[in-house]
Amino acid sequence: MIPPPRFGRLGIRKHMELRVKRAPHIDTEITVPGDKSISHRAAIIAALSNGICRLNGFLMGDDCLRTVNALRALGIRIDEPEPDTIVVHGKKRVLNPPTDEINCGNSATTMRLMAGLLAGQTFESRLVGDASLSKRPMGRVIAPLQRMGANITGEGPDDTPPLRIRGGSLRGIRYEMPLPSAQVKSAILLAGLFAKGKTSVIEETQTRDHTERMLRYFFVRTTRDENGTISIFGDQVPESRDFRIPGDLSSATYWLAAAAAQPAGHLLVRNVGLNTTRTPVLGVLVRMGAQVREAIEGVDQLEPHGIVEVTGATLKGTVIQGKEVAQLLDELPVLAVAGALANGTTIIRQAQELRVKETDRIAAIAHNLRVMGAQVIELSDGLEIHGPAPLRGGRVASCGDHRIAMAFAVAGLFADGETIVQEAECVEISYPGFKGALEKFMTPKRGPGSTPVIGSLSLAPAE
Ligand code: S3P
Repeated sequence: MIPPPRFGRLGIRKHMELRVKRAPHIDTEITVPGDKSISHRAAIIAALSNGICRLNGFLMGDDCLRTVNALRALGIRIDEPEPDTIVVHGKKRVLNPPTDEINCGNSATTMRLMAGLLAGQTFESRLVGDASLSKRPMGRVIAPLQRMGANITGEGPDDTPPLRIRGGSLRGIRYEMPLPSAQVKSAILLAGLFAKGKTSVIEETQTRDHTERMLRYFFVRTTRDENGTISIFGDQVPESRDFRIPGDLSSATYWLAAAAAQPAGHLLVRNVGLNTTRTPVLGVLVRMGAQVREAIEGVDQLEPHGIVEVTGATLKGTVIQGKEVAQLLDELPVLAVAGALANGTTIIRQAQELRVKETDRIAAIAHNLRVMGAQVIELSDGLEIHGPAPLRGGRVASCGDHRIAMAFAVAGLFADGETIVQEAECVEISYPGFKGALEKFMTPKRGPGSTPVIGSLSLAPAE
């Protein structure tokens, strides 16, 4: 018998602190929980499919559970037979009107993707979020969805949440994205599935392409032309299929950056997603002087996954700007920490999107790095960090932002004295088990370390 779903644990425990001390020599291997972006998309597309889909490796973080909860509120049955597996009972695109508003918690991905999905339904819905999400810009999804014919409004000032959506019949549009955003692209593609005719999205800078890949995997017809225009045709029902979600490279990056910044540190991460729209962060670590190898072991379900191996060095500063920024935005907090540990100056520019994330990440990084003794200049669209800083422990604020909390836990691994990351319960949003993994990096290893595997890794095949 399938046990009842255990989704009662939405919402995160309050007032957890992370206490961090300097890391001993790093020589270990790890795996990380499932990819957040892929988990959201798999649940949504499975819910629209024509049958039962088993999603292994699903991220049971608060953000993805918000999407699960939203789908359940729309009448989709979702079971949890094993700890990291959900079974979604697709209902051939039929969704029920929700009986109440849908709470997206801290998850902008839930709110923006669900807005796309709900824009094409015949009923009314309202999406609300926590204090942080309530301040985040939704005009970027409202504008294209309105052009498709949806009646959607942001009830907060300047198109912020809650979102009220009176869905209806949509028409396909051709939309040139004014800013690079995988969430906006995905919202439009999901709405396009319910629209008449063809919907096309043109992105000048390619963003993570998990939605397009997943749609193709579920046999939904999409095309991508040589200019990067992605099109979807309405009226299609995804074919139900099972999916194995790889580990989240963004979560792995906390540990990869730590190993990279420790001369002779060595880390292997297994079963991690290696989609090329996500791997530019590895190139930055290489530029900073670390040795990094990746080996793709499989491309199941159109998403490559494999091993990443890092050997650390005395890092040197680098410049991160331009097109690469959109593909490593989530990794910038921990790259900034790596910058503080590196010789020379690290400059991050054209990253103004960081100001409208779960918190103003530019301000939060600058503040916390200064608390720990680093020299930082806050720029309107980024940071200038002068390394190497002899970091000292202290109390740093997470600002309720999971990526700030985890980045500064990594900073604590390189600091004198104890670092206390306050309000660190937010790590549960994307990385349940982060605290346990952190303990592993603070505990001296007994016995032999992990064996370098570079020699035995085959080169990553072209996708
Ligand atoms: C995400 C896209 C990115 C990323 C976020 C997850 C997604 O946001 O920062 O953590 O799953 O589509 P934007 O689309 O706002 O760039």
